[in-house]
Amino acid sequence: MTLDVTHEFPLTSDLIYLNHAAVGVWSRRTAEAVRAFAHENMIQGATDYPAWMQVEDALRQQLKTLLHAPHSDDIALLKNTSEGLSIIAYGMDWQAGDNIVIAQQEFPSNRIVWESLASQGVQVRLADVSEDDPEAALLACCDARTRLLSVSSVQYGHGLRMDLQRLGAFCQQHGIFFCVDAIQSLGALDIDVQAIHADALIADAHKWLLGPEGIAVFYINQAWRERLTLRQFGWHMVEQVGDFDAQDWIPAHSARRFEAGSLNMLGIHALHAALSLTLELGMPHIERMLLERSFALMDMVMDDPKLELLSPTAWQRTSGIVSFRVLDYDIRAHQHLYESLMHAKVICAHRAGGIRFAPHFYTPYACFDTAWERLHSCLND
Ligand SMILES: Cc1ncc(COP(=O)(O)O)c(C=O)c1O
Repeated sequence: MTLDVTHEFPLTSDLIYLNHAAVGVWSRRTAEAVRAFAHENMIQGATDYPAWMQVEDALRQQLKTLLHAPHSDDIALLKNTSEGLSIIAYGMDWQAGDNIVIAQQEFPSNRIVWESLASQGVQVRLADVSEDDPEAALLACCDARTRLLSVSSVQYGHGLRMDLQRLGAFCQQHGIFFCVDAIQSLGALDIDVQAIHADALIADAHKWLLGPEGIAVFYINQAWRERLTLRQFGWHMVEQVGDFDAQDWIPAHSARRFEAGSLNMLGIHALHAALSLTLELGMPHIERMLLERSFALMDMVMDDPKLELLSPTAWQRTSGIVSFRVLDYDIRAHQHLYESLMHAKVICAHRAGGIRFAPHFYTPYACFDTAWERLHSCLND
């Protein structure tokens, strides 16, 4: 499939955008969909609301395809990843003495929510996933009282890609809820919720999916959907949605039961447009293009005597995140370097003890050479 990448991603010419692990870039078609939606709202409000609902339905189908989910009924549209994790944390029926296993290096959203259950007597066990066999570290923390294992498909700091299939198979075998925070991989790496035996998978749109903030996909498998206690209620989450005169109600049988009220229609239009590009190209193609770029960046880091690569180099461990540190630099010096890079228009992040570069499949290779020139002039300043 050929795509005019420069047409879809007309980034400001001197900007080197390597920050998709924080907030991604919108494609032209996404920006145009938002512009058209804004214009429509201005001239005729919600006159064509049924057409908006068709876009919503189409988005659910796109997400089903993206996740290889059995059915679009398994998918809810939420605000963000943190909301999805909270729905699970407060939907499960905990008993004092239960435990939850997560990685020590997790992003705060995927730790705080579990720690918040301490008042119910639930213990959080932290596995150090920085060693050779990160899955073994997680599984070693599990015992007969483990009710849930929650993991980021890709760790936000150094980009470690987890073997989700191995974790999911173990959880399935031991009756442990397998929760995947996929915000650092969805749209970057192909993922199949059935193959990995995910009970739930959540991801906001604003990173690798190249969509806006404030709209997230929440996959919940059918077996668990009706077992989670609902904590949010409203007109939208009932089975007979739209029947405003009905006095009786039951929660929707589909994952819509987790969508309390009006959805983020603007976000829906944007994400729908963003995903049309993703699906047109296909995830295997996007993943290959991205990993080739990550390897090119990793080679540049490894060839640079001033730098130490923090990201794993094995193919099955690699993601869109390439992190490195400058030898002999402390945290303050890295913060200063990050600020200098941003000033030099190399858009990146300072995370987990280093500088995090995160290109996407469309990033021109020439950007890497420019990033290196600017990095070295920052280092020599
Ligand atoms: C692994 C991980 N989980 C969750 C989040 C936050 O997601 P949200 O803002 O959608 O709740 C981030 C953001 O950087 C992240 O890297």
